[in-house]
Amino acid sequence: MFTPEMLESIKKVEATRAQRMENEPRRMTAEEKDSLLKAFHPDYRQDGFAEIKIGPNKGQKAPTELSNLLHSNSRILNENIDLNKIDYDVDVLVIGGGGAGASAAIEAHEAGANVMIVTKLRIGDANTMMAEGGIQAADKENDSPVQHYLDAFGGGHFAARPELLKRLVMEAPDAIQWLNKLGVMFDKDEDGRMITTHGGGTSRKRMHACKDYSGAEIMRTLRDEVINRHIPVVEFTSAVELLKDEKGQVAGAVLLNMETDDYMVARAKTVIIATGGAGRLHYQNFPTSNHYGATADGLVLGYRAGAPLLYQDTIQYHPTGVAYPSQIFGALVTEKVRSLGAMLVNVEGEAFMHPLETRDVSAASIIRECSDRNKGVTTPIGSGVWLDTPMIEMIGGEGTIEKRIPAMLRMYMNYGIDMRKQPILVYPTLHYQNGGLEINGEGFTKAIDNLLVAGEAVGGIHGRNRLMGNSLLDIIVFGRNAGKAAAAKSKDVELGTLSLKHVQEYAQELEKANIHTGCVSPQLLPEYARHER
Ligand code: FUM
Repeated sequence: MFTPEMLESIKKVEATRAQRMENEPRRMTAEEKDSLLKAFHPDYRQDGFAEIKIGPNKGQKAPTELSNLLHSNSRILNENIDLNKIDYDVDVLVIGGGGAGASAAIEAHEAGANVMIVTKLRIGDANTMMAEGGIQAADKENDSPVQHYLDAFGGGHFAARPELLKRLVMEAPDAIQWLNKLGVMFDKDEDGRMITTHGGGTSRKRMHACKDYSGAEIMRTLRDEVINRHIPVVEFTSAVELLKDEKGQVAGAVLLNMETDDYMVARAKTVIIATGGAGRLHYQNFPTSNHYGATADGLVLGYRAGAPLLYQDTIQYHPTGVAYPSQIFGALVTEKVRSLGAMLVNVEGEAFMHPLETRDVSAASIIRECSDRNKGVTTPIGSGVWLDTPMIEMIGGEGTIEKRIPAMLRMYMNYGIDMRKQPILVYPTLHYQNGGLEINGEGFTKAIDNLLVAGEAVGGIHGRNRLMGNSLLDIIVFGRNAGKAAAAKSKDVELGTLSLKHVQEYAQELEKANIHTGCVSPQLLPEYARHER
C-alpha cells in the first residue's frame, strides 16, 4: 500500500524507534513556540485573510472565505416572506442539531419550555459526531478545575474570556456525570472508575473517552434523549435569517425547507444559535476533519443581525489529519494516538518535536518540517510526517490499539495499512474555529436581546487555541446553560411585530460600502455540494 519511497523511509523510522523511546524530545520554550507560530502557523499568513468592511467587527480581519460570506447578500433579500403566517410558534428555538443544540433543547425541555430544534441535515449530523479523542474534566484526586483552567488558559495564549473559561472548567465534572447518567458508555476500569489520559497541553490525565468514538457515543445518547422526550426536530430545514421585532429583540427565524425550497416562519421568544463550525469553507485550501454541514451559518446569521464576533481570525488546524492514503485525505487522526505514545517523526526517522505540544504548535512544527526543512514524506498529493503508531503497542502492550483506538485501526485497515505494525502519514487538517459570536457568561449575545449561542459558534471560551477535549466539554456545558437560560428568559418575553428590517439595513450598508459579491449567505452546504432534485 505504501510507495517504495515511503517504505524506504519506514525503515529509518524503525531503525530509530528504540533510541527515540529512550529519549523523549524536550518541550519547546515559550520563545521557540512564538517564533515557530509566527513563521509557520496558517493564522499568520496574511494572504489567508481579508478585512471585514461592515458590521460590528468592521476593520478587523477574518479568513477570506468568511469575510466573503459576511459581505454577501441575504438569501431572502428579494423574497416575499409573509411574516403574518406563522408556521412554528415556540418559547425556545434551537438552530442546529449537534451536541450543543441537543443539550440546550434537553435542558430547555426539562425547564418546561416549549422548545424546537431546526437543523439543515438530520439531528446528529454535526461535528460532535466526528469527535474522537475525548472530553476533559478535572474529576480525579490529583487534579482540580484550577489546574484545568491554567492548562486551557495558557494553551489558548491567555486570550480566553475568564468568565467563560471558568464556567467551562468548574462545570466539567458535572457535565461528565450528566452524560454518564444519560447513558454515555465511557471507558472504565474493572472498579468502574473512568479511564483518563493526557492530551496536548494537559498537566493531568483528564481526558474521558469512549474508545476513539467519544463524540459519536455522546451524540447517540443526546439524540436518544431528544427523541425520548418528544422534542420536535425539524430536519433538512435551514435557518436563513433571524427575525427581530420592532423593539429590536430577536423573535425567531426564517426557515428554508432544503427539499422543497419553501420558506417558513418560526416565531420564538428566545433563539439559540448552535450551528457549529466552518471547516467546509476550507480556509487556505486546507482539507478538513469537519462534518459536511460546517459552513459558519450561525456566524453569518448572528452578524447580520448585529451580534459581534470575537477571535474570528483564529482557526485550529488539527496537527494530525490523514496525509495518505488520498481517499481519506484530511480525515481526523485523533490526538489520542499521541496520548497513547506515538511520536511524530520525519522522513529521516527523527523525532522533531515533543508529541504532546499544544495543537497550534504541533501543526506549525509539522508544516515547518514539510516545507522549510524539507523533511516531509512525499505523498501523491503533497507531503506528511510519520506518526509512529507501533510505539503504542510497545508502550501499552499488544492489543492496545484495538482496545483504545479501534476506529483508527479500522479506518486504516480499509486501505491495507496495519497501524499496529507500520506508522501512518499525517499533515494538519482544518478542524475547529476558535472564534465565533461573543457571549456573556449566561450564553446571551452582547448586542441582541434573547439571542444565545452555544458550541463551536461561540468565540472566546478557548482563547486563540483550544486544547483537545475542551470542545466536547463546551458543547455540553454551554449547551446546557443556554437551554436553561433561554427557557427562563422566555417566561418574561413579550414579542411584538415580526420584522426583517435589519436584513434591509445590512443590504444598505453593503451598498454604501460598494460591496457587490454576487453571492448569498449563509452558505448552508459546501461549494462542491450537488444540488439534485
Ligand atoms: O484529536 C481528537 O480526538 C480531537 C479532539 C478535539 O478536537 O477535542
